[in-house]
Amino acid sequence: MSAEGGRVVIVTGASRGIGRAIAVELSRAGESVVAVARTARDLEETLRFMEEVRPAGSAARHSIHIADVTRESEVEALFRGAAERYGRVDVLVNNAGHVDPVGILEMTLENWTHTLATNLTAAFLCTREFVRANKRVGGKIINIASTAGLTPRPGWSAYAAAKAGLINFSLTMSEELKPYGIKVYCVAPGRTATELRQKLAPEEDPATILQPAAVGRLVRLLVSPEGDYIDQQTIVIRKPLP
Ligand SMILES: NC(=O)c1ccc[n+]([C@@H]2O[C@H](COP(=O)([O-])OP(=O)(O)OC[C@H]3O[C@@H](n4cnc5c(N)ncnc54)[C@H](OP(=O)(O)O)[C@@H]3O)[C@@H](O)[C@H]2O)c1
Repeated sequence: MSAEGGRVVIVTGASRGIGRAIAVELSRAGESVVAVARTARDLEETLRFMEEVRPAGSAARHSIHIADVTRESEVEALFRGAAERYGRVDVLVNNAGHVDPVGILEMTLENWTHTLATNLTAAFLCTREFVRANKRVGGKIINIASTAGLTPRPGWSAYAAAKAGLINFSLTMSEELKPYGIKVYCVAPGRTATELRQKLAPEEDPATILQPAAVGRLVRLLVSPEGDYIDQQTIVIRKPLP
């Protein structure tokens, strides 16, 4: 991994919320970030925030890439584009997510399929491209799951199942990818103050729950050499109850 310009990190779902906070923290650490989502305007705002905190004199180069990460061809194009621009990708952060909680009787096949596609299948597609490119050079993959994948969550079945799937996908990958020198981490945040959370719990005071920057700082640590010894487990991050 090159020190000049930092590591090259793809962050999916970086147009707002936790993904944006991860992108900003990685920029602060001097890494080069490819911020990915479907909404150009919001990605441009993320790019501005990243530029604001980039260390003085840093050779890091940030970019944005518009892609729907549930689509195989768009994921392939994302990794092709990053390889052409940077020559390599050192770290992948699978953060894109979606939830529309409804009880089982109201659950449509479309809701179920879309929730699994965004939270689980997208991570599979991006992981496969990353491994194809990195099987000789190693790297790191960080998956953003949720505490909803660890405990029962009535009314959230598709999301809880998708995140539970992502947790064991991460553990399985961390064993399977050892021969390639690829480390796999799984981060499971509790309630975090983002637009998504605000829509789900409008009555909640965002100041009382975890802030996205805290997740960003944890990911920054995992990406750094200090993170080398704490893979192969599900790392829960949440604000303790008062
Ligand atoms: N907030 C919480 O309380 C909480 C707690 C635990 C875990 N999490 C997890 O943390 C992650 C981020 O959550 P958040 O609260 O920051 O959510 P958010 O504010 O809704 O952000 C979701 C991000 O994912 C992107 N995205 C969604 N579908 C996509 C697709 N098909 N292709 C590419 N990008 C896509 C969105 O961008 P576009 O719409 O522009 O594509 C956006 O950047 C998710 O995986 C979520 O499950 C959140």
